[in-house]
Amino acid sequence: MSRLVLISNRVSIDRSAKNKGSEGGLAVALNAALRRLGGLWFGWSGEVSDDSSMNMHTATADNVTYATVDLQQADYDEYYFGYANRTLWPLVHYRLDLVDFHRRYSAGYFRVNSLLCSQLLPLLQPDDIIWVHDFHLIPMGGQLRQAGCGQQIGFFLHTPWPAVEIFRALPQHDVIVRALFAYDLVGFQTERDLGAFVSYITHEIGGRVDPDGTAHAFGATTKIGAFPIGVDTENVAQYSEVEGKSRMTRRLMDSLGGRDMIIGVDRLDYSKGLIQRMAAYEHLLENYPDNRGRVVFMQISPPSREDVPEYINLRHELETAAGHINGAYAEFDWVPTRYLNKGFRRETLTGFFRASRVGLVTPLRDGMNLVAKEYVAAQDPDDPGVLVLSRFAGAAIQMTAAVIVNPYDIEATGEALQTALHMPLDERKERWSEMFDDLSRDDVLSWTNNFISVLTDNGDGSQ
Ligand code: F6P
Repeated sequence: MSRLVLISNRVSIDRSAKNKGSEGGLAVALNAALRRLGGLWFGWSGEVSDDSSMNMHTATADNVTYATVDLQQADYDEYYFGYANRTLWPLVHYRLDLVDFHRRYSAGYFRVNSLLCSQLLPLLQPDDIIWVHDFHLIPMGGQLRQAGCGQQIGFFLHTPWPAVEIFRALPQHDVIVRALFAYDLVGFQTERDLGAFVSYITHEIGGRVDPDGTAHAFGATTKIGAFPIGVDTENVAQYSEVEGKSRMTRRLMDSLGGRDMIIGVDRLDYSKGLIQRMAAYEHLLENYPDNRGRVVFMQISPPSREDVPEYINLRHELETAAGHINGAYAEFDWVPTRYLNKGFRRETLTGFFRASRVGLVTPLRDGMNLVAKEYVAAQDPDDPGVLVLSRFAGAAIQMTAAVIVNPYDIEATGEALQTALHMPLDERKERWSEMFDDLSRDDVLSWTNNFISVLTDNGDGSQ
């Protein structure tokens, strides 16, 4: 049996207390999959050091070897802060107004990929299956090939792939796309992202895509496909049963005093639509006054990418928005909004999800959004809460039984909250069981097996 090697910028190990809860869906999902399958997980340690030897750290736990390396300050600045977070991230989330491109960022991006590649090479075995993740590491496949790697190498993009008109705003966009053609398989979250990529290949490059998903361009071929990522549904459901009765969840429920809770859990990121979400909640309180004193909105937003100016601004804006609502509507015995600028353990969150009447997941653009899936997986089957979900999250394509909203339409989102809060039990159960069945079938393990089986082309997921 071949060994699975995952490569991603973030590796879910040794997270400091400061970062707890801010790691995003990628790390959580990959951890769940790799712990079940075993293998090697390689990436950045999250640390910046002065040492040019990159300091490799290794650890083994639950069948998984974790190997991480430090970055130097200039590498961090150009590769992670710069090209990943200020160029590619806003670009793929349709925020051309925030894209900050510099040649030194792009040079740093390729340089750090190459440095990571050279650290990884000695760890590889000839029959490994190599799976590279996300926008930070697009050039890695080609660099591994150049170094002589003949293993099967796949790539999965966790973010959206934007429309052609957006993507071609990136200087040297074709260099990035060409790099994808070094992989044997390139996976996207949804058919929507896949379609945008196909459109780029055919319209911008003059390439073609065969009906079986083989893409031809730049004199090369690669397989492409949509592989919507799942969560560890069974695990989340089991945790939520236990955590739903935990001391913390009981404290939360006591503090609510019988009021209904709306919950939002997102990294503090402008793609998550947090400001619009606050406005929608305010619309609910303003236009449906029966909710005043009866509903509490708890938004949990751990800090993320704290040195990027847009994230600093967002933090101030969100504090202002939450403070504004509380200032306008709070009573001596009721505070409408609880805004928590910190993370919680994933397990704890399952209890909080179960205690909430509504899960509010309204990104302006999101590759998948695994909070939406975890919220549903964590519900009590006898009294499930309602998911209010943005149509611009990849998850909305699968989770059609959610209350789907356009997060730019503040009034309609406020009205959707009113619908969700007053939804009869029968309808809640019906919507929930449809989504839960899908999540149980399409969980993170089936996602992994599916991707690997297409990568290795053996059709049955065996390695
Ligand atoms: O899910 C997208 C993603 O960029 C992941 O690649 C990343 O691990 C997560 O968001 C959190 O972001 P960061 O690693 O920059 O803290």
